[in-house]
Amino acid sequence: MKLSVAALFLLVVWQGSGVTLRAASGPEEARASSEAFLRGRAVYEANCAVCHGTGGDGNGMAAHMFRVRPRDFRRGLFKFRSTPSGSLPMAGDLVRTITEGIRWTGMVGRPDLSEADRRAVVRYIETFSPRFTGERPSPPVAVPLAPPESPDLVAQGGRLYRDAECGKCHGDRGRGDGASAPGMKDDWGWPTRPTDLTWRPLKRGSTPDGTYLTIATGLLGTPMPSYGDSLESRDIWALVYYLESLVPAEHRLSPLRPLGEEQAGWMVIRMHGMMGPGMMRRMPRMPMMR
Ligand code: HEC
Ligand code: HEC
Repeated sequence: MKLSVAALFLLVVWQGSGVTLRAASGPEEARASSEAFLRGRAVYEANCAVCHGTGGDGNGMAAHMFRVRPRDFRRGLFKFRSTPSGSLPMAGDLVRTITEGIRWTGMVGRPDLSEADRRAVVRYIETFSPRFTGERPSPPVAVPLAPPESPDLVAQGGRLYRDAECGKCHGDRGRGDGASAPGMKDDWGWPTRPTDLTWRPLKRGSTPDGTYLTIATGLLGTPMPSYGDSLESRDIWALVYYLESLVPAEHRLSPLRPLGEEQAGWMVIRMHGMMGPGMMRRMPRMPMMR
């Protein structure tokens, strides 16, 4: 009796130990995957916990500095995915976000971390949400080749922008001042607002493919809906081109310039992320040091 209770306990612990150990079949693999887990945890605690919190709750000691709060990873909701609305992201989506950052916010890109470290930290943040043990991401949305830009396509995008009522949130001219804009909250309960679409880069960057994915898959956890089911790919491209036509030249900012809360993000990383064992690590591409 005692033994079976202990066995049950062990089983529960083993099952609760998450994705990293679940896939292991032999002792070799188990050791390799627990090494990856420990590596991911070390990277996380040195570089991410100061904002995202040791337990992944988005409540690290610097979190209060940001209007756009660091993500609470426990619900497993991610904005910048290549997967359809509602789905978990691909690991590659998270690696991309960690590499490039989320422009305008405290989430600064970390291309200085090795690719192995970025992959390990992704596996580690997955352990914060039970979604990653029970679900698999849906297959990514393919971004078809862009049709050549033309005045017709831009005009079609303008009509779609009106018909799909993007302006309710983003405003008639894309300035983020639509009638529904005031008082918006995200799924984590924080105030949020529709993006002023007349500036580049956007949070996801400036590539047309990225904007295509935002429209096709939506931004999970925010009021930004997904249009992948209601619009044809040509319509989505028309919208992408129309949105580009709303951007005046002086609103196209250098990709190297820190925007909005990025400045504070760099400061936090410089003060905390480099303390401890990696204190004097060099930080290439860190704008404040230019
Ligand atoms: C200086 C603060 C700060 C640090 C340090 C930081 N983040 Fe973030 N992170 C943020 C903020 C703020 C957001 C939310 C941005 C938004 O929702 O628009 C965020 C969002 C994210 C997201 C969500 C992306 C999505 O698609 O929703 C991931 C993943 C992430 N961070 C991973 C990391 C990892 C891994 C590290 C460490 C290598 C890290 N962050 C370090 C502030 C930070
Ligand atoms: C119900 C309100 C709502 C509607 C309708 C809406 N959006 Fe959004 N959209 C948002 C919000 C809120 C954000 C900001 C989310 C964030 O940054 O967390 C956003 C962000 C965006 C972004 C910026 C993503 C980035 O990388 O920064 C694009 C592009 C966008 N929307 C395009 C559109 C288009 C095109 C339509 C119509 C087809 C549309 N939106 C309709 C609320 C809306």
